[in-house]
Amino acid sequence: MKLWGGRFAKETDTLTDHFNSSISFDARLYKQDIIGSIAHVSMLAKQNIIPETDSKLIEKGLLELLADIEKGSVVFNEKMEDIHMNIEALLIERIGDVAKRMHTGRSRNDQVALDVRMYVRDEITEIKGMLLNLMDTLITIASKHTSTIMPGYTHLQRAQPITFAHHIMAYFEMLKRDYRRLDFTYKMTNALPLGSGALATTTYPLDRDFVAETLQFDSICENSIDGVSDRDFCLDLLYTISTLMMHLSRFSEEIILWSSHEFRFVELDDAYSTGSSIMPQKKNPDIAELVRGKSGRVYGNLMSLMTTMKGLPLAYNKDMQEDKERIFDSIDTIKMCLPIFNEMIKTMKVREKNMYKAAAGGFTNATDAADYLVKKGLAFRDAHEVIGKLVLHCVTENLSLEELPLDVYQSIHPIFEADIYEAISLSTCVNERQVKGGPSMQAVSAHIAKAKDFLNHPE
Ligand code: ARG
Repeated sequence: MKLWGGRFAKETDTLTDHFNSSISFDARLYKQDIIGSIAHVSMLAKQNIIPETDSKLIEKGLLELLADIEKGSVVFNEKMEDIHMNIEALLIERIGDVAKRMHTGRSRNDQVALDVRMYVRDEITEIKGMLLNLMDTLITIASKHTSTIMPGYTHLQRAQPITFAHHIMAYFEMLKRDYRRLDFTYKMTNALPLGSGALATTTYPLDRDFVAETLQFDSICENSIDGVSDRDFCLDLLYTISTLMMHLSRFSEEIILWSSHEFRFVELDDAYSTGSSIMPQKKNPDIAELVRGKSGRVYGNLMSLMTTMKGLPLAYNKDMQEDKERIFDSIDTIKMCLPIFNEMIKTMKVREKNMYKAAAGGFTNATDAADYLVKKGLAFRDAHEVIGKLVLHCVTENLSLEELPLDVYQSIHPIFEADIYEAISLSTCVNERQVKGGPSMQAVSAHIAKAKDFLNHPE
C-alpha cells in the first residue's frame, strides 16, 4: 500500500507507478534525505511535537539505514515512487510505527527542495575544488612560458605577437569568473526551505532557525510558497556550468586547432589522445572534442529546465520533478570534464619554435612598424598606409618585414633608419607592451602573481 493510499479505493496502475516514479534517478539524494530527516525529527522533539524517545529511535534507524544503503544492501522500490517515500517505507519496515511520526509537520514538497539544495551545495564544493586544480595548472603552464612568443589572433588571422603565458592567462580569468559564479550559486542555494510544508507551513510550532543552523544553512526561505516552488538556484547552477563548459569548449577548440598539422603548436600526450581504426598515422584530440561536444547537452539542460519552469503556477507542481535529471546530468558532465581536461593540458607538449615561426611569418609586427613611424613624427593614419604598402611589397616578394632590406624601406619613406629592425623584432613588440594586462613578461608576471593570490584565498 502507498504511504498516501488512504484516500484511494484501488491500487495505481503499474504504468502510473513507472511514469510517476523518480527513484531511478533521485536515489542519489538518499544521504541528504536522511540527514535532513534527522534534523527535522530532532527539532520536532525539541519543540515537544513528538517524544524525545521517538526522535532518538528514528535517528538511530535512519543512521543504520544510511550505513546499509552505503554498503549496497538496500533495494529501492519503484512502487514507492521516490527517495523520500522509499526511505520512510524502509524505516517503517525496520523500526515499526514510530517511524510514522517522522513526517509530522513536513511535506515532500519542502523535503525535496531541502534535499536538492543540500545536494547542490555539496556538489558546488566539489566542482570548485576541481576548478581550482585546473586554474593551478594554468598558472604552472603560464609561468613556464612568459617569453614563449606566439601569434595572437583576431578573426583567426595572425594579428599581433603575444606570449603563450598571456594567452593561457586569458583562460585563467574566465575560470576565475566561473569560480565566482559558483560561489554566487552557493549563496542562492544556501537558504532552508524546510518548514514551508506543502506550501503554507503548518500549525505545529516548528523552529526553522534551529533546523537551518543544524544543517548549516545561512538563512531560511522567507516565504513558504516560494520555499517549495523556487528552482532558481538550479537554474543558476545550470547557467554557471554552461558558461564554464563554454569556456572549456573554446579552449578545446584551440587545442584541436593547435594540435593539427597546420598549426603544430602543441602535441597531446599519448595517454590523452586516441588513434584511428583505419588510418595508422592518426592521433586524434578526442578528449578536447568530447568536452566541446558535451557543452551541447549542458546548454540543453539549462534550456530544458527554463522551459519546464516557465508556465508553472504557484506553488509545487509535479513538473518540477524534471529538475533532477537536468542538474544531475550537468553536474556529472562537468565533474567528468574538469579532471580529464586538466590532465590533458598538464601533459601536453608546447612546440615553442613553431609558435615563434608562426608569429614571425604573419606580419604580426606590422602595427609596431607603424608605431615606429609615429614615434618618428608621422601621423598614425599615414604610417598605417606606408606600412600597408611595405606589406604588399613583402607579400609579392614572399618576404617578411624583418627580411626587407633597408633601402626598400627608405625607397617607400626616407624617415626609416637601421633601428627599424630592432623596433619590429618580436621580442620588442611583446616586451614594449608594458601596459597592465598586456603581453610583456613584466605585465604577465604581475598577472600571474595576482592569480596565485587568488588561488591562495579564492573569493
Ligand atoms: N519526487 C518528487 C519530486 O521530485 C517529490 C515531491 C513530490 N511531491 C508531491 N506532492 N507529489 O519533485
